[in-house]
Amino acid sequence: MTNKILINGEWREGRGEEFSSRDPSTGEEIWTGKSATKSDVSDAVSAARGAFETWALTPVGTRIEIMERYRDLIKRDADDLAQLISRETGKPFWETKTEAAAVAGKVDISIKAFHERTGERSSSAGATNAVLRHRPHGVMAVLGPYNFPAHLPNGHIVPALIAGNTAVFKPSEMTPGPGAFIIERMVEAGVPDGVVNMVQGARETGAALTGADVNGVLFTGGAKTGLAIHKQFADRLDVILALELGGNNPLIWWDTKDVDAAALAVVQSAFLTTGQRCTCARRLIVPEGASGDKAIEALAKLTDRLVIGAPFDEPQPFMGPVITPQVAEGLERAFDQLLDRDGEAIRNLSVRDEGAAFVTPGIVDVTRADAVPDEEHFGPLLKVWRVADFDEAVARANATKFGLSAGLLSDDRGKWDRFLALSRAGIVNWNRQTTGASGAAPFGGIGESGNHRPSAYYAADYCAYPVASMEGETLLPIADDQVGIK
Ligand code: NAD
Ligand code: SIN
Repeated sequence: MTNKILINGEWREGRGEEFSSRDPSTGEEIWTGKSATKSDVSDAVSAARGAFETWALTPVGTRIEIMERYRDLIKRDADDLAQLISRETGKPFWETKTEAAAVAGKVDISIKAFHERTGERSSSAGATNAVLRHRPHGVMAVLGPYNFPAHLPNGHIVPALIAGNTAVFKPSEMTPGPGAFIIERMVEAGVPDGVVNMVQGARETGAALTGADVNGVLFTGGAKTGLAIHKQFADRLDVILALELGGNNPLIWWDTKDVDAAALAVVQSAFLTTGQRCTCARRLIVPEGASGDKAIEALAKLTDRLVIGAPFDEPQPFMGPVITPQVAEGLERAFDQLLDRDGEAIRNLSVRDEGAAFVTPGIVDVTRADAVPDEEHFGPLLKVWRVADFDEAVARANATKFGLSAGLLSDDRGKWDRFLALSRAGIVNWNRQTTGASGAAPFGGIGESGNHRPSAYYAADYCAYPVASMEGETLLPIADDQVGIK
């Protein structure tokens, strides 16, 4: 995979500082390259601007054919992509194979969504045709996170290009490789020069991109960054923002006969991808008393059985390291702070070896803790609340400024109906893990989890704007009985 940046079909070195990504399970360097300067970013945006008109006027069938070729190239190279993602993120290989499959799968989903959500429709009333069409916005800046370094930016870029936009993409500085890998396949598939461009770099490069002459910012990342971007565009009604942010997601566990199955759903919600999914459960809410005690005991026992290891270990681990040793230390600190606030450890979150990115999954009872922050800890840290009744459980679930995912584990259909009706989140599941959302459904949240522009199946909506037309081949003549005309 290349360490260059792509501007107008030309791969060249960035003119900024050198930076690297590292395998979080070994510390080995995976990618080294130079970041794009403000002037590189400006060149990339100019290239995208220059390519826009021709691409927007290219028949949609041609744009789709190119994206289908891209899909087939990703399928051809799926194992290489999965390996690269595993090496850069530390995610187990079984898991990154599903990410590579999702990258290819996104093309067909986006084609369907393009036609269903933003296609063309017409109806006639007399001599007038009422036609609804959709038009691309222009140049889209795409900024990606590290946890799904290929799948999530791909989920913005593919629908944006199908709709006729051009794009400048900046991968996360922690995972530049998979971003470069997918863009190389887009070029090989025949995406014309300037239609897709890629710059590499950290926050400054991202800020240069959002500060450039773009028509849209399609961002997946943390709430703090998302809010900063939102503020940056407070007086810019002309730029479309799609902000896909994090959450402090609740999971209620109430009256399940199969305690072990429920414990598995909790573990898959809280600790999958080492807790580095935006949909991960961060808060578990269980009843006071014996049934809650039994639930916690089953959860703790299952947590002890989770295999933690490097991506290519055999047998395959359940979870790998977090993204960097610094993130691992930050999570350990966050866990210790909850203990300082009178939280009670059920399982300790601790860095496994000094200077490494492996951590053990932490579970802490914060029922009696003081001022527990309403924050997303992006790692395997689960806070537990014990509550007296189901109404309190639902109130506790909704007690967050975020609203991405929420779940209920319960055998009681009535409780599910109530939870579904009252829950304030964009993804609300029953007896299923909170993670692993379907790409064929809309994906987004409320509150500080986004700006009401869900992605995945609804990405088509933010990639085009509707144009309503009333049309006739000829003008309508003045009628004899024209109202109001003498
Ligand atoms: P992040 O916000 O730190 O970075 C995301 C991207 O923004 C990176 O490319 C980064 O370089 C860039 N960036 C940082 N500061 C910027 C600035 N001031 N201007 C422009 N760009 C800037 O996020 P992360 O740590 O890479 O990813 C983890 C976060 O992403 C978590 O909070 C997680 O919940 C969230 N996430 C959300 C979704 C979703 O779909 N809702 C999916 C995955 C991850
Ligand atoms: C994510 O995008 O971070 C998670 C998606 C999911 O697993 O639901």
